[in-house]
Amino acid sequence: MCLGATFVERNRNSACGCLWCAMVATSLLVAGCAGLPSKTTTVVDGSADGGPAKGMIRASRGRLAPVYAPLAEFIVGEFDLAGCDGVGIDVGSGPGTLIIELAKRTKHHWVNADIDPNAFTFFHETAGKNGLTGRVSSIRADVHELPFRDGYADVIVSRGSYHFWKDKVKAFNEIYRVLKPGGVAFIGRGFSPNLPVETAREIRAGQGKSMEYSFAEESEELTRIMREVGVARYKIHNPSEAHGNAVNYGIWVELHKLARDRQ
Ligand SMILES: C[S@@+](CC[C@H](N)C(=O)[O-])C[C@H]1O[C@@H](n2cnc3c(N)ncnc32)[C@H](O)[C@@H]1O
Repeated sequence: MCLGATFVERNRNSACGCLWCAMVATSLLVAGCAGLPSKTTTVVDGSADGGPAKGMIRASRGRLAPVYAPLAEFIVGEFDLAGCDGVGIDVGSGPGTLIIELAKRTKHHWVNADIDPNAFTFFHETAGKNGLTGRVSSIRADVHELPFRDGYADVIVSRGSYHFWKDKVKAFNEIYRVLKPGGVAFIGRGFSPNLPVETAREIRAGQGKSMEYSFAEESEELTRIMREVGVARYKIHNPSEAHGNAVNYGIWVELHKLARDRQ
């Protein structure tokens, strides 16, 4: 066990080990199965027909494709996740490309929790092609009301989603609630510092004005949110610094749920 995880792996094909989860997790799409969820969930047959999801699938296979493997490498190294099991959630994972890369490097069961299910079919097909069937699930979920019980996840990640969240304090409160004591979340947008600077520059050159956000403003907002949520241990990451701030690498917040936090 890593990160203080207490997950008991009773069935490799399921998130919580129960028979229902084992049955559903092995099917193409999973909803409401991520470990005795506390709220009603909806089974959805996501396809790539939806507009934004289709665009995100295209981006994740195109200009953003080089981003995910280094990001997964960074997360696994930073939080010592290699060889660890338990449950990981990617909030707003869309096509789930980050999950695929994380699942290749860890033993966790990874859950794609996205408000838009339209990329789920693509996600499960990709997982299958990578030999990860049974290691991943998907669930239609709004970050503001996550359908997971308290302390469910050992790790929660999210890339390129938090700036869409309408009530970020509520969203981060949910993430904190779902995090297991001893667990860690890594939430942000952009790239990891190990992405080659030429690659980062090329990606940014192909993106619009919406990617010209200010690190200082985002950092201030995330710091305020951490305080409001009551996170005792957090760290704002500025990956641009590793490259002399020559390219906008984005911003990330690492937050830990200490065993003694809000017990
Ligand atoms: C720009 S895409 C990023 C997708 C993926 N994380 C990646 O990096 O390839 C943003 C994702 O956040 C999801 N999202 C937006 N608001 C959300 C919410 N309230 N709860 C959960 N997911 C949300 C969208 O549906 C979309 O899949």
